[in-house]
Amino acid sequence: MSSIKVPTDYNAVLYKTLAEADPEVQQIIEDETWRQFSGLELIASENLTSAAVMEANGSILTNKYSEGLPGARYYGGNEHIDRLEILCQQRALKAFDLDPKIWGVNVQPYSGSTANFATFTALLQPQDRIMGLGLPSGGHLTHGYYTAKKKISASSIYFQSFPYQVDTKTGLIDYETLHKNADLFKPRMLITGGSAYPRDWDYKRLAETAKSQQALLMSDIAHISGLVAAKVQNNPFEYCDIVTTTTHKTLRGPRAGLIFFRKDKDPEVEGKINAAVFPACQGGPHNNTIAGIAVALKQVADPAFKAYATQVIRNSQAMGARLMEHGYKLQTDGSENHLLLVDLRPLGLTGSKIEELADLCGVTVNKNAVVGDTSALTPGGYRLGTSALTSRSMMEKEMVIVADFLHRMTQIALQIQKEVGKKLVDFKKAANASEDVKTLKKEVEAFATSFALPGIDSNNIKRPAGH
Ligand SMILES: Cc1ncc(COP(=O)(O)O)c(C=O)c1O
Repeated sequence: MSSIKVPTDYNAVLYKTLAEADPEVQQIIEDETWRQFSGLELIASENLTSAAVMEANGSILTNKYSEGLPGARYYGGNEHIDRLEILCQQRALKAFDLDPKIWGVNVQPYSGSTANFATFTALLQPQDRIMGLGLPSGGHLTHGYYTAKKKISASSIYFQSFPYQVDTKTGLIDYETLHKNADLFKPRMLITGGSAYPRDWDYKRLAETAKSQQALLMSDIAHISGLVAAKVQNNPFEYCDIVTTTTHKTLRGPRAGLIFFRKDKDPEVEGKINAAVFPACQGGPHNNTIAGIAVALKQVADPAFKAYATQVIRNSQAMGARLMEHGYKLQTDGSENHLLLVDLRPLGLTGSKIEELADLCGVTVNKNAVVGDTSALTPGGYRLGTSALTSRSMMEKEMVIVADFLHRMTQIALQIQKEVGKKLVDFKKAANASEDVKTLKKEVEAFATSFALPGIDSNNIKRPAGH
């Protein structure tokens, strides 16, 4: 029997486990695992991916360079990588129920931001005009964000951008004004999608506006792609020329992006998108990530995913209903997807304070602008999402418990503010010392640790030292 010797020379390190090779990084991972297990993840752009996705993502595929596309690579040795990328493309089309004669997909974007920029690079000329939902209205940076003093996103540096907004009373997209402004601005591309919009999109209406200006219609469904794939949201593919998404939010895969393009209308679009991803905007594809995307997309096509996506929305609505019972104002008075926006201004609190206090209680949320906010630095609300908790198999009744935790946090925040005043530094100091915060953290931990965390052996997880 042959036995291969593990080197003991300068390569010995290559065979060590992470714990042996780098206890410092190992410790950070253990601390973060405990944070995720013992806390409640309510960041709307996050989710908890599967053990299988993490295994693929951490696999030996990370070693391989494969610039180019299946069958047309700049390097040899890509026969298996070609199989992988083709499989991933097929699964991407299947997950969204798309006809391969009409739609194509590029699965190489490293992230949602690069997917968007590659799309602009492919289909626009520098300084062409784009219109996306403004950031303060719930849009994303990469849809052309700029401020009075600065062009923030590359999408506003290299293109002329003019945002559309939500109605200041209803919080809903003001399609009427958008249509009128498009008539004046004449965008080359109209972009739908956002990061903090709790309602579904009227793609038919948007397509009418785009058509009236002979503009391309692009939808960035990063937040809602899992819900779109499960057919529990309107279908952008019916009306759009291009659809981009991240793969790590409701889609529950690894961190990456996808670009879907409609090839029947424009025979050149496929070549343009592919060339924009590589070599224009990126280098070699991250094959380990593409494997993770393929695994996630197989899960998305399974009927169980439809049950998951349906529950995500039910949970969001249950949490919203309970918060409203407690008297909170939600932007648009509710949610049709996975996310909620809580307006704290009627209480005289800022989103930063709740984010801070929530962190101390083991609940993760993010401060967020609410409609009518004047200062981007002190947003008047916070954003919640139910994708991650639903991946821990929490249901409506648990959402009521979580909403009650949020309510208690808010009451504690109000009390602290009453005692120490409005300055954030004083607030932080008092919150860190608060006995109420410590009690609530213990309750949150007891609750959260009674639910398994995807991807780890929850029964054998140990509390790391210092926690
Ligand atoms: C709508 C939207 N598009 C794009 C992105 C960017 O994705 P990434 O962080 O992967 O670059 C996000 C991220 O939150 C998003 O919400």
